[in-house]
Amino acid sequence: MKNIEFYVGDITKLKVDAIVNAANSSLLGGGGVDGAIHRAAGPGLLNECRGLNGCRTGEAKITKGYNLPAKYVIHTVGPIYSGAESDETDLYNCYYNSLSLAKENDVHSIAFPGISTGVYGYPKEAAAKTALGAITTWLSDNSGYDMQITIVNFSEHDYEIYQSVIGR
Ligand code: APR
Repeated sequence: MKNIEFYVGDITKLKVDAIVNAANSSLLGGGGVDGAIHRAAGPGLLNECRGLNGCRTGEAKITKGYNLPAKYVIHTVGPIYSGAESDETDLYNCYYNSLSLAKENDVHSIAFPGISTGVYGYPKEAAAKTALGAITTWLSDNSGYDMQITIVNFSEHDYEIYQSVIGR
């Protein structure tokens, strides 16, 4: 698919305009990719996050990237998987709203981790389908805007899940 590529590895290494953080609603850091991003960005990131007053599930907020190679961090809060109908909508909104916020900030390259697929327990195949749906819909809704999207998988296994979803 045009505009979408895949990278297997650590999102904090990517020199893109913005990397997306799978945060929690406090925006005050945590484990997983959130912990990795804060460690790599340094204390300036947490200081800026303190002033953001948290973030609701499905919403997105932007900060500078500090010591990261990326210029910005877009923080979004995925659903804690429960099997409720709203899980899919919330996850879809994380991707769609992060892309819209990126466009508002003249971002033209953005990398996503597997939002909610770690601590928040979202099944990886279902999450991949929802992520691809949100991304492709956003791209067609914003066809005049140049946006390069990287989907970051933290393992080959996660990458294979995406490839199997695309293959179908
Ligand atoms: N680079 C890319 N992907 C990563 C990295 C990394 N450095 N570290 C972890 N991941 C992957 C995980 O393998 C998983 O597929 O990111 C995905 C999201 O997992 P989590 O980081 O656990 O995020 P999530 O499931 O959304 O849970 C969010 O965890 O860390 C806390 O503060 C965070 O409370 C929030 C919750």
